[in-house]
Amino acid sequence: MNARVEDFSLLDPSVQSNPRPFYALLHEERPVYLMPETGIYVISRYDDVRAVLRDPETFSNDTIAAGGVNGSIYHIHHRILKERGWAHVQTLQRTDPPQHGRYRRLLDQVFNIQRVNALIPHIEAVTNSLIDGFIDSGECEFVSEFALPMPGIIIAEQLGLNRDDVGTFKRWADSILAPAMVPLTESELVEVAETELEMQHFLATMFESRRTDPRPDMISALVHATSEGEEPLSMHELQNLMHQLISGGYDTVISALSNGLWLLLRHPDQMAKLRANPDLIRNFTEEALRYESPVQGLVRRATRDVMVSGTVIPKDATLIVRYGAANHDPSKFECPHVFDIERKNAAAHLAFGNGTHFCVGRLLAKQELLTGFTALLARLGDIELARPLPEPPHHPSLLLHPMKELRVRFTRRDEPGSNPVR
Ligand code: HEM
Repeated sequence: MNARVEDFSLLDPSVQSNPRPFYALLHEERPVYLMPETGIYVISRYDDVRAVLRDPETFSNDTIAAGGVNGSIYHIHHRILKERGWAHVQTLQRTDPPQHGRYRRLLDQVFNIQRVNALIPHIEAVTNSLIDGFIDSGECEFVSEFALPMPGIIIAEQLGLNRDDVGTFKRWADSILAPAMVPLTESELVEVAETELEMQHFLATMFESRRTDPRPDMISALVHATSEGEEPLSMHELQNLMHQLISGGYDTVISALSNGLWLLLRHPDQMAKLRANPDLIRNFTEEALRYESPVQGLVRRATRDVMVSGTVIPKDATLIVRYGAANHDPSKFECPHVFDIERKNAAAHLAFGNGTHFCVGRLLAKQELLTGFTALLARLGDIELARPLPEPPHHPSLLLHPMKELRVRFTRRDEPGSNPVR
């Protein structure tokens, strides 16, 4: 019997891990799908996703659902931050124009191409030192030994932490993501709020010190970002922006690196092609972002009754813009389920969003992927899975796409000390 849309649930971890058969059915039969399990509308077609992202007046980012899956007990978290730290205020990704424009103008100054270019030698050095750490053993657990520390060290240092504090940074990042992603008990929620408080107080000290003593790092750029006629960012706003930079810029890159390597392992012909022609590296990273999009979807709220692909979405309904599905829409990408590093329009993917909230950190993310994969392929040969992946290979998540683990073995291509990409 042929599969039907109703046979799948986006709450099922195995569907989240491999959503492609479900996305194909959505595209064919139900481009706007009301999930019976949640009452949320899922938008899957490329043109519809793009149109929604470009119409913030109708599809608001102010999504009320504060606290995500922990909405009913979120007040506990809020009270702890309000009493002893800085309660969350809505900035940037949680705002709509015109309010959004203020934050975006300031953030675009922080993440410009000059800053990313200046970081390249540092990204290379971090990448190579991580590879140095495991290359002699001929084996590594790629997620925890490379994909996680690489962006972690880079952001942590930009926040004024030491490189050795990447564990602290990871603990902070997990705590700020958890309330929106994982159902927590009251005591777990108190614990993550306490960890967030610790981060807020560290950042507050950093903001004050960089205000008087600027350095060439992200935190100084943020404190000193100004736009004509605008008030400087308040401590509440700075805290919230930093929260978004950490939650948006860490797990996403971990996921892109891990899924990218796994794609190459699943498609040895493509890995061989990339090794033979390293100029394809940029297109490979775009195709990997298209194929296994780290952010599969995010939430919007309809501000009025609106028709999308023949379905009326009522005012105040919650919808998920499904970037991952749009990136497998056959009307945009020919044979979308084929992983092809030479795909002509791979870069047209919506993995970084589009329109108003187009990813602020995309230049940094792309550079981390380029530098990371260039060095990995130059220094490691014959890369293969050293242990079968868990089933399913991804952690459960309605919106993100994090891999659980990826244990690989390899041979050494570079001679010790030859540093091919340094
Ligand atoms: C491969 C890595 C990344 C992916 C796939 C990704 C994906 C996305 C997506 C889909 C959006 C759109 C949100 C929306 O439509 O509401 C977004 C926005 C954003 N991203 Fe990224 N991102 C990545 C890396 C980064 C990095 C490295 C940073 C910063 C260090 C970052 C910071 C942000 C911020 C602050 C926003 C909100 C922008 C706004 O609302 O104007 N992201 N990202």
